[in-house]
This record gives sequence, structure tokens and C-alpha cells, in this order.
Amino acid sequence: MRLSVIGCGCVGVVTAVCFAEIGYDVICFDHNEEKINDLQKGRINIYEPGLKELLKENLQKGRIKFTISLEECVNFGDVIFITVGTPLLLDGNLDVSQIELLAKQIGHFVNGEKIIAIKSTVPAGTSRLIQEVIDSNNKTYHKCSVISCPEFLREGLAISDTFNMERVVIGTDDPCIANLIEKLYSSFSKNFVHTNWETAELIKLASNAFLATKISFINEIANICDKCGADVTKVALGMGLDSRIGVSYLKAGIGYGGSCLPKDTVASVKSAEDMGYDFEILRSAINVNKKQLLKPIELLLDALRVKDLSGKVIAVLGLSFKPDTNDIRNSPSLPIIKRIFELGGTVNAYDPVAIPEVKKIFPVVNYYSEIDDAISGADAVLILTEWDHIKKFDYGKISALMDNPLIIDGRNILSLEEMEKYKVNYYSIGRTALF
Ligand code: UGA
Repeated sequence: MRLSVIGCGCVGVVTAVCFAEIGYDVICFDHNEEKINDLQKGRINIYEPGLKELLKENLQKGRIKFTISLEECVNFGDVIFITVGTPLLLDGNLDVSQIELLAKQIGHFVNGEKIIAIKSTVPAGTSRLIQEVIDSNNKTYHKCSVISCPEFLREGLAISDTFNMERVVIGTDDPCIANLIEKLYSSFSKNFVHTNWETAELIKLASNAFLATKISFINEIANICDKCGADVTKVALGMGLDSRIGVSYLKAGIGYGGSCLPKDTVASVKSAEDMGYDFEILRSAINVNKKQLLKPIELLLDALRVKDLSGKVIAVLGLSFKPDTNDIRNSPSLPIIKRIFELGGTVNAYDPVAIPEVKKIFPVVNYYSEIDDAISGADAVLILTEWDHIKKFDYGKISALMDNPLIIDGRNILSLEEMEKYKVNYYSIGRTALF
């Protein structure tokens, strides 16, 4: 069996290299010629641990290639994965027009029996629509079957998540195709959920809705902890050891960001609304998240006992939406930097990989490649991403770098005891009242 991948974003390239790594021949299409040329040479602008190495290795073995010819890509594979983006439209719906356009073209180019596996996150009903579009453009006798096969990988962990999938969801009414896809994924997972198109599509959106709700829930508990002197990390542990709740995704902080949870939650609310249903709990989770993103600014103004930040230098540590990625889409750092500027402050920023991305948005921030330089002479430090570099920094030297050390830890990564030892005025999320 040969595989094709349409769309060379993180999901597409990771899917392609992982299948190539286990021995499949894979071709990838993208309409961006520069990106395709780079990928063919083993270059990739996504920072994803292990990805570049796997890409180079499989290019050398000749198991993966890249093309700007959609026809070549469609003709090559028996299974064609669609991994193009589904951005949010202004009305809150996910834009599936790229997939629709591809479906028309796939219909024209089809040269044999094909399985079209939609991995992009789409609203319920999309696979059905795409099957209709392909069928109405397919003038051959070759069968082209659409399946829904949503992606659950996390950025920063994309390779290991792919090699160790907790589950594979296969949405199709055709049992032969379902078995074939199960075999294809059998090296990656042992757990398969066979279902129809709409259920598979909803599993993806419901998963992200649940994760977002879990984060907003613990963030609200953190805010309550600050009112009563409780420690949210212990509350989360005490709750999470109940296997019905689980310890993961209960890290309180400054809210969820990234290219998926913020977009998918808004889309789920809108899609439910279009079906005549008010997805109340998710609406609340979104609102809680919006407020939580600016929590560090609230703490900062309180700690400095000021109403604005004029004359103040704020060191921002961490710019990407989470560690091990250079992705800054919906990163909390963006609204926070914007707010510091609105309040008249100056920003010194550190991040191990995301500086070039943020520079395009905020050219006037002072960027530093060393934490010491970013915090030197600053009035306050805001920790926004839990990078190892930031966790492991020697905060023992902070009093030599700042006159009155003040840290607002938006990710709860520093130890309360150490901060007390180093005489840092330290604020975190849901453990502040303890200090
Ligand atoms: C998320 C899902 O976790 C994946 O399963 C899904 O495949 C992906 O979206 C997608 O739809 O493509 P990702 O956006 O890479 O993956 O990031 P996560 O690791 O889920 O983190 C999302 C946000 O939640 C980050 O801003 C992170 O800092 C925050 N978070 C996460 C918390 O604030 N607390 C937690 O306990 C966990």
C-alpha cells in the first residue's frame, strides 16, 4: 500500500515521516512551492523534537518525497490523507472550503480505487459532504471512499504521540475499509474505535472541548485557592488520583492557547448553536480562559502597587504557547505583551526558539537569547511558558540582577521554598496566598 498526504503542516509532515519510518512509501503535496523545495531538502520551519531527523533519514532512504503536483499526489497513494488547515471563519465556523476544493480536484484526478482519510479537524457532517463532492466530480468507475480519521497528536510531542497513539478513530460505514485502516495503524496503536463519519468527527471536537473545560475548571479552582489559602497543585493531585478524574490536564496557569483548543472550542459552540443547541459549559470554559490569560497583568499591577506600567521594564520569559514548539498561535504571551505596552511598560523577552515569530508582531520588544540578560535591571519577571531552560535557571543569582526581585509565575514552575530562600517577591497561580 502506498500513501499520499495533502497539506504539509505539522500533522501532515509528522504523519508522512512516521509512516515512512515504518516502511511505507509516502508522497506529500502542498501548494506552497518554497515549503516543498525546503522539505525535499530536509529543511522544515516547524520546531518539533525529532521531526527533522526522521525527515532527513527517510528522504535518504527514498521512502518520502514532496511534490507541488496534486495530480501526482492523488495518483500515487492508495490512501490519501487530508491534513490541510481548517481556520476559524469570522462567524465562528471552521472553514472547510480548502477540503471542498481538494475534493473536486481529487474527483478529477482519480486513477484507481482510493481511500480519502480526513485528518483535519472538521465539524460533524463534513465527511458526508466531501464524499458527495468527490462523487459528483469523479467521472471514472473507480471507487473513492471518504473516511474520517481525526488526529489527536500534541505539538511538541507529535512524533511520540504518533508512534504511541492512545486510540485511532476510524469513521466509515464500510467494514472492509475500516479493517484496512486498522491494519495500517496497527504499528501505532492497539485501540481502535470504529464508528460512522459524524461520530468520528465529533469525537475529535468533543475531546478538545473536554480538555479545554478541564483546564478552565482547574484555573477557576486556582482562583478560589488564592482566596482561601489553598494550594491548587495539591488540590489537582488530590482530585486527579481518583481514576475517574485523572491527574493530567489539571495544571493551573494562564489558560490554554495554541492553534487547536481556542479555535476548536469556538467552532464547537457555533456548530452546536447552528444545530439549535446552547453548548453552555463550553461557552463558560471559553470565557474563563479569556479572563485567565491576563491574570499575570492583574498580579503584576497588584504586586507593584501601580495602576499603569510607565517607566517599568517587564521581563517576559517564554513566548511560545507551550514548551518544545515555536508555535505562537494564540499564545498567552501575545495579549500579555500587548497589555504591557498599553499600560506604558517596556518588554524584555526571552524564548529559546520562538523569538523570530514574535518579532514579526512586536518589533519593538527587546529580545534576548539568555535569561540573565532579559531579567537584568527589570522591575518584574513574568514566566509564561514552562520551558526547561526557564525551570532550571539559577534563581539564586536573581538579587544580583534585579533591585527588588519580583516574579509572577504563570505556570507554577518554581518552588515556593526556593523563592522564599532567595527573597523573591513571588506570585503564582492558585498558590499565592500560601506565601
Ligand atoms: C491539543 C490536544 O491536546 C491534542 O490532542 C489535539 O490533537 C490538538 O490540540 C489538535 O487539535 O490538533 P496542542 O494544541 O498541541 O494539542 O496542545 P496541548 O498540549 O493540548 O496544550 C494546549 C494548551 O493547554 C497549552 O496552552 C497548554 O499550556 C495548556 N494546558 C495544558 C494547561 O494550561 N494546563 C494543562 O494541564 C494542560
